[in-house]
Amino acid sequence: EKAGYKHFMAKEIAEQPIVLADAIKYYCGGGRINLPEDLEFGALDRLTLVACGTASYACMTAKYWFESLAGLPCEVDIASEFRYREPPMPENSYAMFVSQSGETADTLAALRYARGKVSKIVSIVNVPSSSIARESDIALPILAGVEVGVASTKAFTCQLAVLLLLALKAGHARRRIDDDSLAAHLKSLAALPGLMNQALGREPSIAVMAAAVAEAQDVLFLGRGSMFPLALEGALKLKEISYIHAEGYASGELKHGPIALIDKNVPVVVLAPRDALFDKTVSNMQEVMARHGKVILITDPKGAEEAGLGTWKTLTLPDVPALLAPILYALPAQLLAYHAAVAKGTDVDQPRNLAKSVTVE
Ligand code: F6R
Repeated sequence: EKAGYKHFMAKEIAEQPIVLADAIKYYCGGGRINLPEDLEFGALDRLTLVACGTASYACMTAKYWFESLAGLPCEVDIASEFRYREPPMPENSYAMFVSQSGETADTLAALRYARGKVSKIVSIVNVPSSSIARESDIALPILAGVEVGVASTKAFTCQLAVLLLLALKAGHARRRIDDDSLAAHLKSLAALPGLMNQALGREPSIAVMAAAVAEAQDVLFLGRGSMFPLALEGALKLKEISYIHAEGYASGELKHGPIALIDKNVPVVVLAPRDALFDKTVSNMQEVMARHGKVILITDPKGAEEAGLGTWKTLTLPDVPALLAPILYALPAQLLAYHAAVAKGTDVDQPRNLAKSVTVE
């Protein structure tokens, strides 16, 4: 069932262009986004997104989208904190729960907390028959197909795609996005699977980088804006399957503490497409290089040309609209963790101490 791959994780990483294309086809058609009629973002006061682990990083990314595309105030929390914090929730708001398994105990408890407080409970799940899906007013499938590897990969990018479509839908309903620009966004989304295939084509160079990363004790991941949650996800993926200590930071936080960790033994993965914040990230990167940190820059052709000098390694991905960069850049982050784990000889699909579905708190 691994279809010739050495691990389920490798198969699931490689499947992403196909499952993402399926999800896009399911939700889009004729320049429109097809979501249940009763999802009404127009007059909503707030959105609260709750999840655990990788799914919570998908939510953090979505916050950037809901705020910038729809001007919709958006709160994100991890379920284990949310459920016990007694957070007030405006009546005219939606609560959204994101879960691959749909059985995560803390996320389910958070959903039950929100019930009766908000106008709608929406879930984004991979398993439509799951508890979280059943207890929601609306359950949106991510259509990733069965995910076997304990480390979430294709579910993450499909969660991001569905969340982006929701944010676009909200932007359109709130009159921030007109018909033409909605159609343009959907057109670039339809081209994303092709770009993902190109990114997967970089696997041999990523494997070489990963073999070097596998020697490290500690690794930092940096990103700014919507790439910040991906820095957290890249670090989580690396630590859970390769057992290398890794942390993700917002690039701008570097000088507020973590820069003290930098020396010649610390690889720093910088996730930085050539976007509006690129120069700021590059200056953070130079601070790392001045302290002999080993920068792995993941960027696009222009970014590589402008900032590729003096890095330890540079990986060039195809150009991608800024909105879609977190989805595309997830692939090298996953492959880096995967190949570091393979280089270390760990049990990639069944990492120690972890379970695929966390049904106890
Ligand atoms: C990391 C990972 C976990 C899950 C988390 C939530 O690779 O898989 O962090 O994302 O346990 O699980 P679900 O999405 O099933 O609620």
